[in-house]
Amino acid sequence: MTQSALTSQAGLHVAVIMDGNGRWATARGLPRTAGHVRGAEAVRRTVEAAPDLGIRTLSLYAFSSDNWRRPTGEVRVLLRLFARHLRSETPTLAARGVRLRVIGRRDRLPGPLVAAIERAERRTAGGRALELRIAIDYSARDAIIRAASRLAPGETERTAFARRLGEACGADGAPDVDLVVRTGGEQRLSDFLLWECAYAELYFTPRAWPDFDREDLAAAVADFRGRTRRFGDIAAATDAYSAGRA
Ligand code: FPP
Repeated sequence: MTQSALTSQAGLHVAVIMDGNGRWATARGLPRTAGHVRGAEAVRRTVEAAPDLGIRTLSLYAFSSDNWRRPTGEVRVLLRLFARHLRSETPTLAARGVRLRVIGRRDRLPGPLVAAIERAERRTAGGRALELRIAIDYSARDAIIRAASRLAPGETERTAFARRLGEACGADGAPDVDLVVRTGGEQRLSDFLLWECAYAELYFTPRAWPDFDREDLAAAVADFRGRTRRFGDIAAATDAYSAGRA
């Protein structure tokens, strides 16, 4: 079975770099943190829309390990917002069959946030409609280093490494990323899921994250479905996803 056939059967893995919160707020004369608060509403809309669009795994980049460099006040607001969002959304996520997992380091997060994460993960563990992965204190490079240090002697296969990577970032079993969406007009990966994005399609939109909605996500997925993925091969006919649509 080709890699793309695996993808189409399991549903898409879409990774979103949620950018533009600060600029959205500044343009309206608001503090940057107001953009993050509105960004949480966009998270809710996106999670709600994802299953209907054939998305099976949704990875959201909420806080990179480099974001610790931001002003203390902004970091504090963000971490509190994550905890509040997890607490308030958990019942809805569980009811919709969404399994939530947080990827990244936990040892530098405040205790109440770690407690909210653990509770949300426990309460949603049975979800099968969507795997929602929220990246907090996440760095792909750091995860790769941690995974490499976990490899047993002789473990040289890509699958073994992928398994170690899952263990290293706290959420095993996710397929490779099919589509990366970045909002806010910038065009880079910013240390997000570098190994998992080896063959990801990239989609950039100028829309600021707080304005992102169901139609924007649908447009990104429609753009993705129009692309031909060859995974290094030459013939479009070997692309099982395209063949399935023909
Ligand atoms: C990038 O925009 C955004 C972040 C660093 C924070 C992402 C957080 C949210 C979307 C809040 C809610 C999230 C959850 C999971 C509840 P930026 O601040 O770098 O924007 P800028 O480039 O315009 O400055």
